[in-house]
Amino acid sequence: MKLKPFRLERFFATHEFTAPYLLCCSDCESLSLKDLLSFEESAQEELASLWLGYTESRGDPGLRTQIASIYQNLSPEQILVHTGAEEAIFNFMNCVVDAGDQIVVHAPYYQSLGEVARSIGAEVVEWQGDPNNAWELDLQHLQEKLTDRTKLVVVNFPHNPTGFLPDAEFIHELSRLSDEKGFLVLCDEVYRGLEYDPKQRLPSYADINERGLSIGVMSKTYGLAGLRIGWVATRNQELYSAIASFKDYTTICNSAPSELLATLALRHRQAIVERNLSIIKENLRTLESFFSAHQEAFSWDAPKAGPIAFPRYLGESVERFCNELLQDTGVLLAPGTVYGDGNNCFRIGFGRRNMPEGLQKLEQYLAGYTGRSE
Ligand SMILES: Cc1ncc(COP(=O)(O)O)c(C=O)c1O
Repeated sequence: MKLKPFRLERFFATHEFTAPYLLCCSDCESLSLKDLLSFEESAQEELASLWLGYTESRGDPGLRTQIASIYQNLSPEQILVHTGAEEAIFNFMNCVVDAGDQIVVHAPYYQSLGEVARSIGAEVVEWQGDPNNAWELDLQHLQEKLTDRTKLVVVNFPHNPTGFLPDAEFIHELSRLSDEKGFLVLCDEVYRGLEYDPKQRLPSYADINERGLSIGVMSKTYGLAGLRIGWVATRNQELYSAIASFKDYTTICNSAPSELLATLALRHRQAIVERNLSIIKENLRTLESFFSAHQEAFSWDAPKAGPIAFPRYLGESVERFCNELLQDTGVLLAPGTVYGDGNNCFRIGFGRRNMPEGLQKLEQYLAGYTGRSE
């Protein structure tokens, strides 16, 4: 297995802890340990007296109970806890995909959703959202790509990086197609819960299809990336057992303090998500006026969910624009090229409280920007 460098993660490894204004992060505002512990009176003592031995490989039962309560039809035995969504993706792909398979991936995509399968020897075919139609996905296009080698279809709703979200009818139709044609569906749902209109929240894929899988994580919707707690949710017993057994070769079990803290956070998830959504919505209003004042430089389709969007730079090269912006102002935007072609788009993030500071720097930069190198 030879994995290509993960472009987006290498980009963050270079800049995340040096750029003064991070304007492209995909997580929500985090919490301090103190803030999290203050949700419950006994939490501090519980953490201090925690036993630091190995933990249950599938995940602590109390944590799995909390995670299962996010879903309609899943029990704690159908939740498999991992170290972040990233480990869940890696282990899932290694259990499901074989050399010579074809897999179809919703594009543009978070690289590991396609790259792990490619490194195993699968053919990875992109199912592209339409950049000229608010990143809509067309099920007809999916049908045209299916072959008798298609083992898996990977989707990501709400979508990184565009904030696209289909309607419920779409997801039910995808499930019906999966049953008819025999392919599996992996739905990466790490931004689920961050829909601006709760009526647009999709049912979780693991709830509607018995063979399918959903992936979730503490990092995005709950802003707790440092816990490194993610999970697979599935009613597919055979697959669950295979992934549980594969995990013996990756992390074996999870960090006990992280499990305790994730359980605490999920007991208070409503309050955490409400706070995060209110930051996102306020930042979105600011962004909407920014983009309407700069239509000569950018075009964008407002996202439907999540803390990121994928506007298009109307100048020549988005990569050069992002590089010059970073050098001159310290503002970090992620050029769409970290996703592949990228359509001259860039990723902007608005889940954090300090987003307006970075945006103000960008605004000042645009005021003096003459497109000097173009
Ligand atoms: C769509 C998607 N899936 C998975 C991940 C990985 O999440 P984590 O870093 O919490 O493991 C990310 C992180 O950016 C993501 O955006």
